[in-house]
Amino acid sequence: MAIKTIKDIDVAGKKVFTRVDFNVPRNEQGAVADDTKIRAALPTITYLLEQGAAVILASHLGRPKGKCKEELRLTAVAEKLQELLKVEVLKSNEVVGPETEALAQKLQPGQVLLLENVRFHPGEEKNDPQLAQAYAKLADLFVSDAFGTAHRAHASNVGVADYLPAAAGMLMQKEIENLTQTLHNAKKPVLAIVGGSKTADKIGVIKNFLKLADIILLGGGMANTFLKAKGYQLGISLVEEDQVDNAAQIMREAADLNVELLLPEDVTVASAIEDTASAETVAADAVPADKMALDIGPQTCARYAELIDKAGTVIWNGPLGVFEVDAFAQGTIAIAKAVAASSAFSLIGGGDVVAAVEKAGVAAQISHLSTGGGATLEFWEGKELPGIAVLEDKKEG
Ligand code: 3PG
Repeated sequence: MAIKTIKDIDVAGKKVFTRVDFNVPRNEQGAVADDTKIRAALPTITYLLEQGAAVILASHLGRPKGKCKEELRLTAVAEKLQELLKVEVLKSNEVVGPETEALAQKLQPGQVLLLENVRFHPGEEKNDPQLAQAYAKLADLFVSDAFGTAHRAHASNVGVADYLPAAAGMLMQKEIENLTQTLHNAKKPVLAIVGGSKTADKIGVIKNFLKLADIILLGGGMANTFLKAKGYQLGISLVEEDQVDNAAQIMREAADLNVELLLPEDVTVASAIEDTASAETVAADAVPADKMALDIGPQTCARYAELIDKAGTVIWNGPLGVFEVDAFAQGTIAIAKAVAASSAFSLIGGGDVVAAVEKAGVAAQISHLSTGGGATLEFWEGKELPGIAVLEDKKEG
């Protein structure tokens, strides 16, 4: 894909407006609970600093909807970044305005400034040109390393590219290269695993996987809708009735296209999500009337693992059970271990599966853990991502 990267531009002595995705999970005290996304941006920030650039970082955190929310300030993120980067991180208490302008103006090569949460500004999510210009006025160049935000067309990751020469950072480049490899020239057989709770969110991606994959394994709450489409009774399980027809249609298309689409053969059920005491494994067509399916069962895990072992490429989005509760995390963990043990090129997207892979202790054996959730899904759906499109189109100067 023809995108310009930071290696293609001269950043020495320049101020670089760098969009990163520091939308990190936080604990109850507001501290950074998982710094994966911050660590993922370090190569780009370090490279820019080593090349003699002054780095102005912009990120969102949460969804404050254009208003300042104290608990969503980037103060804890700045502290974590400073600890990891081992370079002082200056922080502005506003997105744009006199404080930010003064700090940006004084910023010297080798220094880092982090703006306040860009979503505090009402113009950010509207991709307001005035805000984009205000960002552009702070710097000479725009670098985007926020792959996780690439499916959004906001002022700090898309609009600003109208006013500054743009290039991709190293994380953005790595994400695009790895994801592109799963779409084009992927080693066969290509096996896709799709889980998660909401069928409606996954229909688009499964449809595209029907064109790309040889095998599709389903799990998680969304698989119930497919089981329902097969006529199974699912007790009190989550089923999206309005998606049953879509699920049936997908199963017909899979058969026509010779794509193996597998559903759970057995499931772990309980009478409530937290009711681990009543958990038991039953055949997928024998869910008791007062119970709900909350995980894939051991027989399904074994069958899925067998296919994963023979795959050339494995792509995975969405957990296969309610993995936040240990009793219902077993299926997701077993499949994470199977993916890690296979020699396939493996790419996992979405914070919850990445967390499950980390919980299983096998993160290092996965070829690529994407920092994108929604962005990865839209990429796999075959959509153009606005945050990538601006890097393709923009010419320097
Ligand atoms: C993510 O965490 O997936 C990205 O940071 C995007 O966040 P958003 O869904 O709030 O735009």
